[in-house]
Amino acid sequence: MPRLQIIIASTRPGRIGLPVGRWFEERATEHCRFDVEVVDLAEVRLPFLDEPAHPRLRQYQHQHTRDWSARVAGADAFAFVTPEYNHGFNAPLKNAIDYLHFEWQYEPVAFVSYGGVAAGTRAAEMLKQVITALKMVPVVEAVSIPFVNQFLDEEGGVQANEVMIRAAAAMLDELARVEVALRPLREGSERLSPL
Ligand SMILES: Cc1cc2nc3c(=O)[nH]c(=O)nc-3n(C[C@H](O)[C@H](O)[C@H](O)COP(=O)(O)O)c2cc1C
Repeated sequence: MPRLQIIIASTRPGRIGLPVGRWFEERATEHCRFDVEVVDLAEVRLPFLDEPAHPRLRQYQHQHTRDWSARVAGADAFAFVTPEYNHGFNAPLKNAIDYLHFEWQYEPVAFVSYGGVAAGTRAAEMLKQVITALKMVPVVEAVSIPFVNQFLDEEGGVQANEVMIRAAAAMLDELARVEVALRPLREGSERLSPL
């Protein structure tokens, strides 16, 4: 099965992104179209971009960059679990994206966003502008969670409603469809050549 990486973007202590990401991991696993891997940026702990060369050149000088490159290159599709900070997505996710170039190319990506009244949709729309510069392909179907606190239970888990569950299924269906369609482009691109 193709590999789906769920990237948890928030790195804050006490972040809601972690339970949202774990909830989506369950949905994706039950969906049975992908091998699912959670990538938590709080654990990856990339420093602010510290490579001297443009990532297109892949002259990575640091082990953390080589590790991040290998990890991202192992994925066939992505779901970004994104908070909304000041009407945009957060800095750790931008930093993690900027580290690499070909590794992202022709990868389908879907967004699980959350926040207040706008459900993180402003962050998701802003992400589309950035990821298309890398030739990633966004899927339209999304999980957008408004007033995310209302879905947290006493153990800090997420109790989803029917809308979220149906949105996750539709998004995963579309991600699987687009992943297959993009496969020839990924196979012909430089992203898979060894470093
Ligand atoms: C710096 C900062 C800016 C925020 N800006 C927004 C915002 O523009 N829109 C919104 O809906 N929520 C905003 N919030 C509230 C977040 O939606 C809420 O704190 C959420 O829990 C953040 O995700 P996280 O806990 O996974 O980091 C902001 C929170 C922080 C910390």
